[in-house]
Amino acid sequence: MVAIEKHTSTYPVNHTALKNWVKQIADQCKPDQVYWCDGSREEYDEMCNELVEKGTFIRLNESKRPNSFACFSDPSDVARVEDRTFICSRKKEDAGPTNNWVDPREMKQTLNKLLDGCMKGRTMYVIPFSMGPIGSDISHIGIQITDSEYVVANMHIMTRAGTKVIDALGSGGEFVKALHTLGAPLSAGQADVKWPCNPTTKYIVHYPEERSIVSYGSGYGGNALLGKKCFALRIASTMAQEEDWLAEHMLILGVESPDKEKTYVAAAFPSACGKTNFAMLIPPKEIGGWKVTTVGDDIAWIKPGKDGKLYAINPEAGYFGVAPGTNVKSNPNAMKTIEKNTIFTNVAVTDDGDIWWEGMTKEPPKNLIGWTGQKWDPTSGKPAAHPNARFTAPASQCPSIDSDWENPNGVPISAFIFGGRRSNTIPLIYQAHNWNYGVYLAATMGSEMTAAAFGEIGKVRRDPFAMLPFCGYHMGEYFNHWLQFGRDIQNPPRIFGVNWFRKDEKGNFLWPGFGDNMRVLKWIVEKVRGKSNAVESPIGWMPHYEDIDWTGLDFTKQQFDQIMQIDREQWKTELHSHAELFERMYDRLPKEFIFMRELLLSSLWRSPEKWSVEGD
Ligand code: GTP
Ligand code: SPV
Ligand code: MN
Repeated sequence: MVAIEKHTSTYPVNHTALKNWVKQIADQCKPDQVYWCDGSREEYDEMCNELVEKGTFIRLNESKRPNSFACFSDPSDVARVEDRTFICSRKKEDAGPTNNWVDPREMKQTLNKLLDGCMKGRTMYVIPFSMGPIGSDISHIGIQITDSEYVVANMHIMTRAGTKVIDALGSGGEFVKALHTLGAPLSAGQADVKWPCNPTTKYIVHYPEERSIVSYGSGYGGNALLGKKCFALRIASTMAQEEDWLAEHMLILGVESPDKEKTYVAAAFPSACGKTNFAMLIPPKEIGGWKVTTVGDDIAWIKPGKDGKLYAINPEAGYFGVAPGTNVKSNPNAMKTIEKNTIFTNVAVTDDGDIWWEGMTKEPPKNLIGWTGQKWDPTSGKPAAHPNARFTAPASQCPSIDSDWENPNGVPISAFIFGGRRSNTIPLIYQAHNWNYGVYLAATMGSEMTAAAFGEIGKVRRDPFAMLPFCGYHMGEYFNHWLQFGRDIQNPPRIFGVNWFRKDEKGNFLWPGFGDNMRVLKWIVEKVRGKSNAVESPIGWMPHYEDIDWTGLDFTKQQFDQIMQIDREQWKTELHSHAELFERMYDRLPKEFIFMRELLLSSLWRSPEKWSVEGD
C-alpha cells in the first residue's frame, strides 16, 4: 500500500481519469511512496542531491562546470534497445514489417507479471509534462510515471514539466500515459546500486490505439525519457497520421541572410549523424552576414497553417546530445550550452572534477575515470567515454537559440533536407524535382550504422526519413501519408538530399563538414528563394561548382566533381537495395515508388558511367 503521498496536499488534481490511473499503477507497482512532481527548481535540486547521496551522480567542479553532474550507466544499459521495442497495435499489419509486434493482450499479460511489485522499496514519481510550449495548438501533454530520480531530473530539462501542465490539463484534458520502471525493486533493507535497471529483461512497448507507453528495465535515454522517442515520435506519428500533421526525427534551424530575410528548414539525419551539429552551425567567417539560429536538434512537430504553409515546433525543451566528437571547433555552440546546469551520462571524468570524451581535445587529460567507473588506461585501446555518451542540457542555454523557438504558432518551414552517413554513392547535395520524388528520396535514405543504432557498425541500412526505429505504424502507410500531405498543401517545401560523409579510396572524408556545411545550406536557401542556379543530373537538381560560395575554403573543382559524382555501378547497387526495401512493404507501398524507381534506372542508363556536374 502507498505509505506517503508527497505533495498531494499542496497539489490539487481535479482530473479524475488521471488520479484513477495513478492509483491503479501505484497499486500494481507497489512503491513505498507516490510523489507528484511540481517541476520547480527546488525539486530538481532535491533529485540531484538524492542522486549524489546514492552515488549515481558525481557533482562536478563548481567553478569549472557549475551545477552539473556526471554519471555512469550499467554496461547493459547504454543505448536504445531496438530489438526490445514493440508496437502493439491491435492488428499486426498496422505495425508493419519494420516494427516488432506482439498482440497487445499477450504483451499486457507479460507486462502485468513484470509490473507487479516492480517499484517496491522505491518512490513512484508522477511527472506531468508538455511536449511543446504549453497552450500551443501543436503541443500535446503526457504524464510519465517513473521510479527513477535520474529520469525525473532529465525530464525537468527535456520537457516543460510540473504543476503548470496539470493546470493546462484541467479536469478532463487528454494526455498520453507513459509508464516507466527500472524493473529493479528493492527488498526490505536491500542496498541500491548506482545505476539500477534490469540487466536481463527490457521492454519498450507502445499501444498506439490507446496512446500509451510502458517501458520496463532500462534507465537510459530514449528508453526511459518517454516524452522523446516513445511519445514525440512513435505515438505522435500515429496521431499525426490520423490528424493530418507530421511528427518527425528532424532538427529545425533558421537561416538569416545578409538582407535579414529568415528562412527555416527542417532536416532528418539518422541517430548520431549530425543533427545537433547542423542545428547549431556557425557559418565560416568568410560567409559574411549569414547567421544560423536553432529551434530544435532532434524532433519536429509540423502542422499546416491556414495560409497553406507548414509550421513547426520543437516539442522538446532540452538537448540529449551525443558527447563524443563535440569540441570547440566542431560545435562551439554546444560546448557553450553545456557549460553549466548539465547532466553528463557515460562521459569520462577528470581528476579536477570536469568531463572529457574522445574528440574533445587531441590529447586525453591524465588520470581519467572512464565511463565504466574505473581508472581509464589510455593503452587499453578502449574509449574513455562510451561512443553513445550524452549530455542533457537546457535548450535556453544555447547561444544560437532562435528568438521564435517557443513561439506557440511554430516557425514556417521552406525546405526539408535528408541525409545519411554514406562513404560512397550519394553526392554532397542534390534537390528532388518535385514533392513525390522528394518523398522517394527520403523513403530510400540509407545510413552506415553507428553506436546509437542497433546492428553491425559501418553496414548500410535503409533508414526511411531517419524514422526506421521511430515510426509507430506501417512504414508503407507513412510514405502514403507524406505523399498525401504534399498534395494537400498549396506550396510544399522543397526537398533536398545531402551527404557530409563521402570518403576517398583511402577512407578520408572528402568534405570538411561542420561549419562548412553552411556553403551547402546557403545554396539550398537561395534555391528555395529562386536565387541560385542548378544543373539537372540523373538523380535531381545539383549546383555547379560556381553556384557554391567557396570564399575562405580551398576546395577545387576536381574535389567538387569527386564528391558530386554519380557512379552508375554504385547506383545500380543502391537501386537494388531500394527494391529490397520495397519488397518488405509491398502490400502498402505507394505505387508511385515503383514508377519513380524505374525512371531513375532509365535516366541513369542514359547517362555516362561516371556522371559529373561539370560534364566530361
Ligand atoms: P541523435 O541525437 O542520436 O538523434 O543524433 P544527432 O543526429 O543529433 O547526432 P549528432 O549531431 O550528435 O552527431 C554526432 C556525430 O556526427 C559525430 O560523430 C560527429 O562527428 C558527426 N558529424 C556531425 N556533423 C558532421 C559533419 O559535418 N561531417 C562529419 N564528417 N561528421 C559530422
Ligand atoms: C537517437 O537515438 O536518435 C537519440 C538518442 O536521439 S535517444 O533519445 O536515446 O533515443
Ligand atoms: Mn534522435
